Amino acid sequence: MGLFPEEKITVNLGERAYEVIIGPRLLSRLGHFLSGRDFTPRALLVTNTTAARLYAPLAEKSLARAGFEVVRAEIPDGEEHKSLATAAELYDLAYEHELDRRSPVLALGGGVVGDLAGFMAATYLRGVPYVQLPTTLLAQVDSSVGGKVAVNHPRGKNIIGAFYQPRLVLADVETLKTLPPREVRSGLAEVIKYGVIADPLFFAWLEENAERLLALEPAALVHAVAASVRIKAQVVEEDEREEGRRAVLNFGHTLGHALEAATGYTAWRHGEAVAVGMAAAARLAVYLGMLAEEEAARLVDLLRRVGLPVGLPGGISPEELLAFMRRDKKVLSGRLTFVLPVEIGKVEIVRDVPEEAVRRVLRLCYN
Ligand code: NAD
Ligand code: GLY
Repeated sequence: MGLFPEEKITVNLGERAYEVIIGPRLLSRLGHFLSGRDFTPRALLVTNTTAARLYAPLAEKSLARAGFEVVRAEIPDGEEHKSLATAAELYDLAYEHELDRRSPVLALGGGVVGDLAGFMAATYLRGVPYVQLPTTLLAQVDSSVGGKVAVNHPRGKNIIGAFYQPRLVLADVETLKTLPPREVRSGLAEVIKYGVIADPLFFAWLEENAERLLALEPAALVHAVAASVRIKAQVVEEDEREEGRRAVLNFGHTLGHALEAATGYTAWRHGEAVAVGMAAAARLAVYLGMLAEEEAARLVDLLRRVGLPVGLPGGISPEELLAFMRRDKKVLSGRLTFVLPVEIGKVEIVRDVPEEAVRRVLRLCYN
């Protein structure tokens, strides 16, 4: 890799195909990437106070150089703003500024901004183009790719949403330099997930290079983000609307979501909860005789090495967690479904996992 490593991955979805470009110095060339497309030259830049302070001027300067007029929508930081009320404010702003059907919506920030801006773009004027400019590791490897867009309902996360693909994703790895270490680790949980579900060589690469990623080495980041996006793109190409295989992306999420819900979505970052969920799923797979103990140990070791939690906190009982699992929107007719590894690099979707097995394994998962 030279001084300017850059990877380009196409998400092949026919007329909805788009490129994900991963590299340094992409935001400063944003205008160039948007030029020559069928966009009208007035863009809505959706961002939050944190991402705006750090990166909006860079993006806006480049857009202005390319002849775009930018309307900036800056929302407060926080998951609670991924709401219908905030989406309504975005509609008002777009309408006031006469954005038309070909005006692009640009999502500059983490997954909260990306999901919200994508949802707004899916619904404003029955759909306008949008571009993802993810600035967290989690958003670069997961939420910006694949077209799941949503806002939260007061009673549940991502309850109101759509499948709506972006026109382009620019993952500028230089933006990750300002991420708090906890957010880096949270994103790494999803990166590790991709190794387990689909790519043993990538998992082995992560075992070798975890420290380079924690040190935010650009070449290592480009490699890890690109490998992750390549896997996500393949899964989404096969099953865009999660009717089957896409569910493998939920490895670690059955328990992860329950843990987030049981703690009111405040104590745990998503990736931290997924890390505990992946460790528990591996233990469950061992318990059910599907996975060798050494393979589960490799996963738990790697999660620990990058500083992620692998055990349940005291104070939440297995029964409480089971109750949340039964209520998850991905549960069909009350049957508990888990994505379980059979080896590093291969998982199976197992429906109807007996509750008693889950209960027993959960009891072994406390810190
Ligand atoms: P986030 O968007 O809240 O970002 C985390 C924090 O980092 C925020 O405080 C944010 O302001 C800050 N931040 C963003 N970029 C920064 C930077 N470069 N430097 C410093 N700080 C920065 O959280 P997230 O983890 O990126 O995303 C979580 C959201 O993504 C959830 O709402 C979740 O439901 C959603 N999600 C969606 C999908 C999907 O497929 N659509 C997948 C996974 C998660
Ligand atoms: N984050 C899971 C998915 O995109 O399907």
